[in-house]
Amino acid sequence: RTAGRTRWSLTRESQECSDEINGILNETMSVSGQLLVKLFGREDREYERYRAANEKMINLNIRESMAGKWFMVILNTTSSVGPMLLYLAGGILMMRYNSDITVGDITVLVGLLGQMYRPVNQLLNIQVDWIRSMAMFTRIFEYYDMPAEIQNAPDAVIPESTDGSVTFDHVEFYYEPDRQILKDVSFRLKSGDCIAIVGPSGSGKSTMINLIPRLYDAVSGTITFGGIDVKKLDLHFLRDHVGIVSQETYLFNGTIRDNLLYARSDATEQELIEACKKANIYDFISSQEKGLDTMVGNRGLKLSGGEKQRISIARVLLKDPALLIFDEATSALDSISEQKIQEAIEPLIQSRTSILIAHRLSTILAADEILVVSGGVIVERGSHAKLVKAGGVYTELYNTQFSKATAADPDHSDYRVENHIYPGDEY
Ligand SMILES: Nc1ncnc2c1ncn2[C@@H]1O[C@H](COP(=O)(O)OP(=O)(O)OP(=O)(O)O)[C@@H](O)[C@H]1O
Ligand SMILES: [Mg+2]
Repeated sequence: RTAGRTRWSLTRESQECSDEINGILNETMSVSGQLLVKLFGREDREYERYRAANEKMINLNIRESMAGKWFMVILNTTSSVGPMLLYLAGGILMMRYNSDITVGDITVLVGLLGQMYRPVNQLLNIQVDWIRSMAMFTRIFEYYDMPAEIQNAPDAVIPESTDGSVTFDHVEFYYEPDRQILKDVSFRLKSGDCIAIVGPSGSGKSTMINLIPRLYDAVSGTITFGGIDVKKLDLHFLRDHVGIVSQETYLFNGTIRDNLLYARSDATEQELIEACKKANIYDFISSQEKGLDTMVGNRGLKLSGGEKQRISIARVLLKDPALLIFDEATSALDSISEQKIQEAIEPLIQSRTSILIAHRLSTILAADEILVVSGGVIVERGSHAKLVKAGGVYTELYNTQFSKATAADPDHSDYRVENHIYPGDEY
């Protein structure tokens, strides 16, 4: 029993330890991880961390194979002492008490005893293996038993088509109960329109859009997509029709083609090229020796932030979603990359329903309505012309962030803003 229990906890511990080792390897071997380690000169620390984890693993393995050894010692001793005792007792009986027992009887007894020991030994070993396997299974089932937080409604509807419109009706949201992130958020995005969401960092912009494809569920209030409550829509349908270019672009290790096909595996070569052209990345791809088959990621070409973003725009375009969401990266891109992204998204949002989380004035100006979010609340809404005069959060953001970004970039100077594609607005 005790041997079993020690083994149980040791097996668990060694599983956790091997998880840790895998974690360290994944972390430090990735491109960004490697870069971080180098930039902060922490090679020694990482080496030490890896060494320590391995040492722990070695110790655990030794302890694991040692656990229950004393038990085996007892077992083995009895199995060798047993026959000895039998011979001794038999001998005494034969010589002292002239018993009827013969040497043959004793030999047979010893032989039988040996036969008995074997199954007992095997049974005990089974217990040890059993415990080891159970400890592993328990850990595996722990993962299986975690409930999926977002589930398809049993009577989920799959509409034939959707217009991509979105409404938020008194939506409240928090990740942890004691810290509310979104408060009473309501807005309406008509089909074909474009809304820009602006606000300080951490105000809840990304959280807001993540509620639409149900990465999280609103705590209260309703969100509809194409006029239907997202909780009643089939999850696959919903996620198929909402395309997000997220703030942190992620590309898999593989070729550019693999990454694009991830959105739609049956896309033709022509469609791939078309999407890349629309995302303003085709020139870059075709300048590469291997074109679409260029490797990217850890073992391939290291792309710049802007290039990655444009590839992920192309990826979303292949999906051809009814609603396009663009969570603009906060990182400063140089004016040329910025302009290329700008040129890529402007025509896109004119033809489809879209939400832009914007940090740049040029992006904001392309929207039909601007929502200003601060502390999880929509504090202002309207057109750029109206908001900039209002003297609120937007004016402040404009003065500190947007106008500076524009002024720092001669190609984007104010005349461009004034001659913007929306002549209806006065600036
Ligand atoms: N998965 C999460 N679990 C817990 N808290 C989170 C999670 N994601 C975000 N938060 C918190 O929610 C708040 C809003 O985050 P969010 O990412 O929506 O901000 P944001 O407006 O997109 O900011 P930025 O402009 O910097 O991207 C932040 O304070 C953040 O700490
Ligand atoms: Mg964000």
